[in-house]
Amino acid sequence: MPSVSRSTDPRISVVGTGYLGATHAVCMAELGFDVIGVDIDAGRIRRLSAGEVPFYEPGLEALLRKNLEAGRLTFSGSLAEAVDRADVHFICVGTPQRPDSGAADLRHVEAAVSGLITAGLGPDALVVGKSTVPTGTAARLAAKLTAGAPGAELAWNPEFLREGFAVDDTLRPDRLVFGVAPGGTAERRLRAVYARMIDNGTPVIVTDHTTAELVKVAANAFLATKISFINAMAEVCEAAGGDVVELASALAHDARIGHRYLQAGIGFGGGCLPKDIRAFQARADELGVGRALAFLGEVDAVNVRARARVVALAREALGGSPANRMVGVLGAAFKPNSDDIRDSPALDVAEALRRAGAHVSVYDPAAVVNARTCHPNLRFTDSVVGAVVGAEVVLVLTEWHEFRELDPAVLRPHVARPVVIDGRGALDPQRWRAAGWTYRALGRPWR
Ligand code: UDX
Repeated sequence: MPSVSRSTDPRISVVGTGYLGATHAVCMAELGFDVIGVDIDAGRIRRLSAGEVPFYEPGLEALLRKNLEAGRLTFSGSLAEAVDRADVHFICVGTPQRPDSGAADLRHVEAAVSGLITAGLGPDALVVGKSTVPTGTAARLAAKLTAGAPGAELAWNPEFLREGFAVDDTLRPDRLVFGVAPGGTAERRLRAVYARMIDNGTPVIVTDHTTAELVKVAANAFLATKISFINAMAEVCEAAGGDVVELASALAHDARIGHRYLQAGIGFGGGCLPKDIRAFQARADELGVGRALAFLGEVDAVNVRARARVVALAREALGGSPANRMVGVLGAAFKPNSDDIRDSPALDVAEALRRAGAHVSVYDPAAVVNARTCHPNLRFTDSVVGAVVGAEVVLVLTEWHEFRELDPAVLRPHVARPVVIDGRGALDPQRWRAAGWTYRALGRPWR
């Protein structure tokens, strides 16, 4: 249950109400604080104010409505209003990849901090960066604050939330990282913001700005490396005749390795991992330590190759010629429980088959609306059967629960040829083979 806000509680603004910001604003209000979310996108502000979450995230809309109704949460287009009503300002704007290089585009972060200063940020303000940024950004922003809003402080407090689990990851994080300058009030004030979680035992790491920035990119680099490691093992298994799923399961029993992020398949996508490893490499090059992160180039290459390998499997299943053949694709989102299609491996594979001449029909439980806008040449359907009817090969490319639970016997009469390619290790091969399907997956033998 949220507590009732007291006059000594931090008053919070959240600048940027995309995935990270909207979730953060709602969760801060859920903790009992008065929160104002600010965005330059008037449509987004309108929808959030009306209790509508503009993306798919389980559980978020109910909490948004509850906190709007309680009067703790408002949205606005005005940074002046944020400066007027809050003293702790979280920066949650996007840092996309620059079109001309792998580096991060920091325009929105810079604009948010400049905007707060112009709006009259006072000497008691605390600005807290949550966006993922190249190391060195916080130092530059701190200097900007010193010049433009003397007395205002900067902290870096990276966010590790996963799409699909955003509420839980925000309210029950594995750890809190506070990057603060020595001698200031930031640590004390951040401890007040996160008091509930800290009381519940969440570990807090207090460090400097640079290390806090690095924790986030290092964590994403490690996760990407783990995924590409198992996908590299899948390539070796294919050449040597091993089974990557059995290999991963045996590795996972070693507590030092663990089972998470060891799921072989078509690899990582989304708005974070791919861009973050590229931006990390670009920054390391600038710092003169490009060699130290050269392996991330391989991580990226293995990841891109996984998509190409699944396209090759599909080609093979079609006897080498996809032109004018019917292909059913299950999955468009970059991962289940999300409607996010940014750098989605599933859509990349679907597009590659379409470009090779196949008639590709795609179904996804949540991402069809987004996917249709960006991929007008793919055909989208509103059911599994709609996507696979008449197909000569079916590809499962996002591991939605709905697809894991499919009954292969029920699906079989709808397809032209019962061949399934499991791009996410989501299906039980024995069950599908027993129902008469040819089952293929990356890194797994034909048996
Ligand atoms: C990631 C980080 O997990 C999160 O901490 C950070 O804040 C943002 O980036 P997210 O992008 O939501 O979160 O996705 P995540 O669940 O980490 O999955 C990333 C991609 O890796 C997905 O495409 C997923 O399908 C893929 N993946 C994940 C695998 O291919 N194999 C795995 O074993 C795990």
